[in-house]
Amino acid sequence: MWDTIWINGKLATMDARHMANGDGYGAIPDGAIAIEGDRIAWVGRMRELPDRPEALATHVRDAGGRWITPGLVDCHTHLVYGGNRAKEFELRLTGASYEEIARAGGGIVSTVQATRAASEQELLESASVRLERLMEEGVTTVEIKSGYGLDTETECKMLRVARKLADQHSITIRTTFLGAHALPPEFKDRPDEYIDLVCSEMLPKVAEQGLADAVDAFCEGIGFTPAQTEKVFQAAERYSLPVKLHADQLSDLDGAALAAKHNGLSADHLEYTNEKAVKAMARAGTVAVLLPGAFYFLRETKMPPMEAFREHGVPIALATDSNPGSAPVTSLLLMMNMACTLFRMTPAEALAGITIHGARALGLADRVGSLTVGKRADFVLWDIEEPAELAYRIGHNPCAGVIRSGHIAR
Ligand code: NIG
Ligand code: FE
Repeated sequence: MWDTIWINGKLATMDARHMANGDGYGAIPDGAIAIEGDRIAWVGRMRELPDRPEALATHVRDAGGRWITPGLVDCHTHLVYGGNRAKEFELRLTGASYEEIARAGGGIVSTVQATRAASEQELLESASVRLERLMEEGVTTVEIKSGYGLDTETECKMLRVARKLADQHSITIRTTFLGAHALPPEFKDRPDEYIDLVCSEMLPKVAEQGLADAVDAFCEGIGFTPAQTEKVFQAAERYSLPVKLHADQLSDLDGAALAAKHNGLSADHLEYTNEKAVKAMARAGTVAVLLPGAFYFLRETKMPPMEAFREHGVPIALATDSNPGSAPVTSLLLMMNMACTLFRMTPAEALAGITIHGARALGLADRVGSLTVGKRADFVLWDIEEPAELAYRIGHNPCAGVIRSGHIAR
């Protein structure tokens, strides 16, 4: 006997095994999902069930003909931070650029001040509100980065808060150490010394306490050079932590190729990435994480190399990048819409971007991201007539239920 079986669902499995019909969703129109413990035990057509549902499972639940997708994965966020940057938004609207503000000591560094000043409890509360917004739309896995501490104590504080969020909410959280996000004011004109601190003190402390699942950096003119970034990657490798990178967002520093060289889980942003780097990503299996919210909010015009990603078979993920400066976003469905309108992705590609490819960008593709036997029973019921509606509507949340680890979570 299974614990539970959901019947009468239209399944967008997002599983390659069901993609032969070419719809991009791996759809099973008259579907059922059986759950054993916290895992998916069976997925298929109702008529292929070996017996009556009542004879197969303790609990039978009727999805009422609704569409069911895998639990959504937001694979790139900076959800934990103090303060906000609404004033900076106003400044940008009167002509100052994101880079100018950063170089004048605003930008990321202003959030660093607010985050250092905030208590763990305050950070937990403000991040909880944002996390709840994501979860209301069916997000069951989220990545959270540090990077607004830029000293050992505050970086650890942020990551502890991220871990605590997972205790307090029904969600899977992966944490990423982003000590190399910006140069803290106390290291002005001494970036190499700061990188030494990141590699020889911050990262070891974070790793010893098991606070991070991956390591990230911001490789950019207003961030760190490729050489500095590589030092951080080498330190991550000493602690067997996988890497990812904020790469080629505002200029082409060959960041995506650097991430690929270090077998990065993902390279993120990628507006300025060149085709050679795309090929390197394809060879390394590095996922392209696109962040249309940041592209929109910074009014970027340079498109990521979409055709090259497709041609070379680089998996494309999408994420909110939820952060106070470049993407004050708490809707992953809105990112689907923006990916379609701004980057010309198809709704099916966009859904893959926030399910299976998002999972891949976190190294979790064997556990979440598709409706597949053996994966965690995380899935979402939707009040929609066709899956493209998830990308089509703006500001509408059709989430009708969330099953997380086999149980009804909302
Ligand atoms: O992903 N690019 C660098 N980091 C963030 C922005 C951080 C901020 O402006 O606070 C991003 O866009
Ligand atoms: Fe980011």
